[in-house]
Amino acid sequence: MRNILITGGAGFIGANFVYYWLRENPEDHIVVLDALTYSGVKLSIEPLIQQEQLIFVHGDICDKTLIITLFEKHQIDTVVHFAAESHVDRSILTPDEFIRTNIQGTQTLLGTALESWRDNIEGKRFHHISTDEVYGDLGLHDPAFTEQHPYAPRSPYAASKAASDMMVRVYNHTYGLPVSISNCSNNYGPYQFPEKLIPLMLINILMGKPLPVYGDGSHIRDWLYVEDHCRAIGAILESGRTGETYNIGGDNQIQNLELVQELCRLIDMSFDADDALASRFPDCPYVHGNASESLIRFVKDRPGHDRRYAINTKKISTELSFHPHVDFSSGLGLTLDWYLNNETWWQTLMSGELNDWFKTQYGQTNK
Ligand code: NAD
Ligand code: DAU
Repeated sequence: MRNILITGGAGFIGANFVYYWLRENPEDHIVVLDALTYSGVKLSIEPLIQQEQLIFVHGDICDKTLIITLFEKHQIDTVVHFAAESHVDRSILTPDEFIRTNIQGTQTLLGTALESWRDNIEGKRFHHISTDEVYGDLGLHDPAFTEQHPYAPRSPYAASKAASDMMVRVYNHTYGLPVSISNCSNNYGPYQFPEKLIPLMLINILMGKPLPVYGDGSHIRDWLYVEDHCRAIGAILESGRTGETYNIGGDNQIQNLELVQELCRLIDMSFDADDALASRFPDCPYVHGNASESLIRFVKDRPGHDRRYAINTKKISTELSFHPHVDFSSGLGLTLDWYLNNETWWQTLMSGELNDWFKTQYGQTNK
């Protein structure tokens, strides 16, 4: 039985991981620590907060006193560290919070884990969740990122994650802390905050709002269904070697424009198959006889926009026998179904801070 501290468990991947982990390991005890920033949604894990295996703590990973208390009180033996500022566009406008949370927050957790575990390091694990963006940009024909690829971050977000990865490595090399790191590609699925490409586009299509495609839409990302990411982290915690980095990806590269067009087609087909959707979403173009693709708008590109990411998954597949279970077409279908069935979840997020963000981005709210 483990006592696990999961940071950022009210965020997109963290919430999915909490569900996944408790389903697979119902005997474990989980402490979720989350500051409930704009992207932290307590509602996402509310049904689990009622269960006795899970304790939710509203707090900041930079608060050393709080972290020490949590380690002592709950006898934490495993950390799965998701908490971060995660949106590249926001990091370009306001980098400060990225430095504080992603670097200082990670260091606070590492320092506390070391102090707490120093006398009995056996069976302990600090797993750090990172991103493929630390490796920088790939040309169209460059080979995919391996774990040996040099770090070359190109946004404040990526630089802050790269710095946090380095601190994790240093705590292993210098102090012997049993760590592991995973660098994953773009995730999609339930509970993703609607500032990110896939949920933003799905919701905008349903609401009949413009679909802002950055630049010419030819940028390439490698997409992985979030539950597969959770399974990969599970495999690393179970059998991954300490001190090691594992890349995680979906072997699934697609250009942004092609992806947005696919989402449009998916929604048009859903409206065609289910008449009830038209009364729920009367502003969707399909209701008025137009294809959803008519909403696509090419907008000013993201500054420093990385052209392509791709992950070489050989290490995790050969060493840990990890392979994604959900193909892209099924994953997009599951994701659309989730957003259709959980309108209350995203409608509550669409006002307030998110609208302020769209105003900053596009000079107007997302109305
Ligand atoms: P998210 O923005 O949805 O969630 C982040 C969570 O961290 C939120 O619940 C937020 O409240 C919490 N948080 C932020 N600052 C905090 C602080 N100071 N103290 C405590 N909690 C704080 O992000 P996500 O997409 O779920 O990403 C989770 C992790 O996975 C991040 O480390 C990110 O770098 C990494 N990652 C994300 C992706 C992706 O595609 N989304 C891919 C690879 C890696
Ligand atoms: O690669 C892993 C990373 O994936 C994670 O580390 C980050 O936390 C996560 O946010 C994600 O970063 P991206 O910048 O790739 O994701 P985003 O959803 O913001 O954008 C995906 C692509 O779509 C990117 O090329 C920018 C483009 N885009 C995005 C938005 C929000 C658009 O064209 N229009 C948009 O409105």
